[in-house]
Amino acid sequence: MQEEKILVLDFGGQYNQLIARRVRECNVYCEIHPFNMPLVDIIEYNPKGIIFTGGPNSVFADKAPLVDKKIFDLNIPILGICYGCQTIAYLLGGNVKSAKSSEYGKINIDIIKDSKLFKDVNKNTIVWMSHTDYVEEVPKSFEISAKSFNCPVAAMENENKKIYAVQYHPEVLHTIEGMKMLSNFVLDICECHGLWKMDDFVKNTIESLKEKIGNGKVLCALSGGVDSSVAAVLLSKVAGKNLTCVFVDHGLLRKNEGDEVEKIFGPKGNYDLNFIRVNASQRFYDKLKGITEPEQKRKIIGAEFIKVFEEVANKIGAVDYLVQGTIYPDVIESGLGKSATIKSHHNVGGLPSVVNFKEIIEPLKLLFKDEVRKVGLELGIPESLVYRQPFPGPGLGVRIIGEITEEKVKILQEADYIFREEIRKTDIDKKCNLSQYFAALTNMKSVGVMGDFRTYDYAIALRAVQTSDFMTADWARIPYDVIDIISRRIVNEVKGVNRVLLDCTSKPPATIEFE
Ligand code: XMP
Repeated sequence: MQEEKILVLDFGGQYNQLIARRVRECNVYCEIHPFNMPLVDIIEYNPKGIIFTGGPNSVFADKAPLVDKKIFDLNIPILGICYGCQTIAYLLGGNVKSAKSSEYGKINIDIIKDSKLFKDVNKNTIVWMSHTDYVEEVPKSFEISAKSFNCPVAAMENENKKIYAVQYHPEVLHTIEGMKMLSNFVLDICECHGLWKMDDFVKNTIESLKEKIGNGKVLCALSGGVDSSVAAVLLSKVAGKNLTCVFVDHGLLRKNEGDEVEKIFGPKGNYDLNFIRVNASQRFYDKLKGITEPEQKRKIIGAEFIKVFEEVANKIGAVDYLVQGTIYPDVIESGLGKSATIKSHHNVGGLPSVVNFKEIIEPLKLLFKDEVRKVGLELGIPESLVYRQPFPGPGLGVRIIGEITEEKVKILQEADYIFREEIRKTDIDKKCNLSQYFAALTNMKSVGVMGDFRTYDYAIALRAVQTSDFMTADWARIPYDVIDIISRRIVNEVKGVNRVLLDCTSKPPATIEFE
């Protein structure tokens, strides 16, 4: 059990996980629980501090989420954020009002009180506001500690009772000194020592999963990507040979990728687990024959993947747990649900319906990608795998325009390998901040001349992008002399290619992948 922990009470805000992440960045363990966690459980949990998150409701709404008022008498420091701030004001007798229009965006606030929350923070600082309701009058024994032009109470506090509240969101990066404020709360006001590390996450997760799983049988679909690899290794420490990892090679992987995954996870690899590699390439090529429409290709690959996995799972028989490498951004994205389908993603999401199991385990569900990578390093997974660039579920299938054939896959594998090899020789991925770079095979053939002969061959497109969220991206300006080397090598070494094109489109309007 953790000795020092912060409890985040969830009122439904969109940045809640970010709050937890910021607390962990202070090296303090933190868990998110529902706003209505019973008082007795809170007392037993024994947090060093409690944070009330923001939320979409108004305190005046019917069935507005509120806490038991006795929470304010536990002598545990509290920080309320946005809706959390209004909740504190409302419950303790202050006055909350609904503004005619919402306040949204970067706002200047003035700090008007010498507050522990604002230690080393500039007296005038920029914060991120996103609210309609606001605190008009603070509860008795509270003082206003910051205000803005529109907001009479940007922050308030009762220093004696260690109750602090801010109308803005300190957890988002737009609040320039937000991290300082949160660390002031966690380390100074709550008196945490900041000794928690990622290896504690690993140790605690392994311990609690051991308790839960016991001698149960565990099944994991391993893609060779970062998330499923980290989840698999974590579970191998828990279940050993009771864990079976199934790796479906759909014939659309990058050059040598299948062998590399087998080398790490297979019988001669580093981990104590059962590894099953299914070479299903031919099945996929057969199903994809003559298919050119991108969505149809994606759906066929996704469905066939599930079929292959189902067959293997049937041979294994019933298992107790199915492991998924879901990470936090997957959780948020799948929560949106309403946006138009640009591409149907294939992330082994259909597996639960075909596997006979008792429960899904998602050990990385609350972590962000960089945290998953830290866990991976902590677990001793090779850096080459931990820092692998994202690779889509349908693999090279979405990088071959038009019909997929074995011959085209080979051409693309070779060209893509050269591209990645040349980048690896330089420090361009760091210098140009490359988030993803790969080759794609266009469906265009054109005339060329090699030696004294006419050629009529394919064109390869090079795609390299910079992005932080993969929702928008800019094309990366890789120096031309490097592009030149890559282009020459591809045309000289890859049979069937006589032209190399550079993709200089951002997302939007293009997407990162080609299909
Ligand atoms: P797009 O092409 O939509 O890609 O701009 C955004 C990011 O998502 C990756 N991608 C996928 N990842 N399954 C995945 O797990 C998929 O089906 C899939 N399609 C695209 C893509 O590589 C990029 O990082």
